[in-house]
Amino acid sequence: MRLDALLVRYGYCARREAPALLRSGRVRGRDGANITSPGQHVNVDEVLVDGEKIPFPDGIYVALHKPVGYVCSHAEEKTSKLVFELLPAEWARRNPRVECVGRLDKNTSGLLLFSDDGCFVHRLTSPRKHVPKLYSFETGSPIPEEASALFASGGFMLKGEKDPCLPAKLELTDVTHGKITLEEGRYHQVRRMLAAVGAPVIRLHREAVGHLQLNDLNLAPGEWCSIDPTTFCGHGER
Ligand code: URA
Repeated sequence: MRLDALLVRYGYCARREAPALLRSGRVRGRDGANITSPGQHVNVDEVLVDGEKIPFPDGIYVALHKPVGYVCSHAEEKTSKLVFELLPAEWARRNPRVECVGRLDKNTSGLLLFSDDGCFVHRLTSPRKHVPKLYSFETGSPIPEEASALFASGGFMLKGEKDPCLPAKLELTDVTHGKITLEEGRYHQVRRMLAAVGAPVIRLHREAVGHLQLNDLNLAPGEWCSIDPTTFCGHGER
């Protein structure tokens, strides 16, 4: 790949800024020699920026423990804290850019994945792939007994939508606490489903995406780690 294209791909600069970055001496080869020609063809593992190898050259696959209060958005005119602020700043400038794999709303905590690999994002978010997402919740009012059968039926309609929700598994610990497993990710889906049966959610936390459990990752709120995307291959596909 051309050196300038490589620096843009990994978020170090915009294309027009590449010559200045190269003149600054921050970009070197493995032998320590300064490399300055934007058109030079290089391999990603031959390039050091500020003395460091380029991280995650084969793509970004990470898991974050999302704290409450952060929004899943790249929005620049921001009034809220953004989940991307919890990741290294240069990732925001990668091209293709790093995206959330599905979203969690501002008041929801838990497991949130990120990637710059569009196929990976699609594989985990498409309802057709049936990747289960497990949430734990607390509601402000008792959940009616018939909710489990209703959500499992495949006929439950959310207000304003034209297709029924896919069957969802509701497991209650007591009348205001439980877990729910969804295979899709509509806007505020858990909150809307429980509100529709008269039990508004007051706490929502995502515990797992597919086989990946947040508890196994030992991440404090706001921390992230890399994950192995191959462990999701074929996961949940029907
Ligand atoms: N359902 C919701 O209501 N909120 C989320 O963040 C995820 C699922």
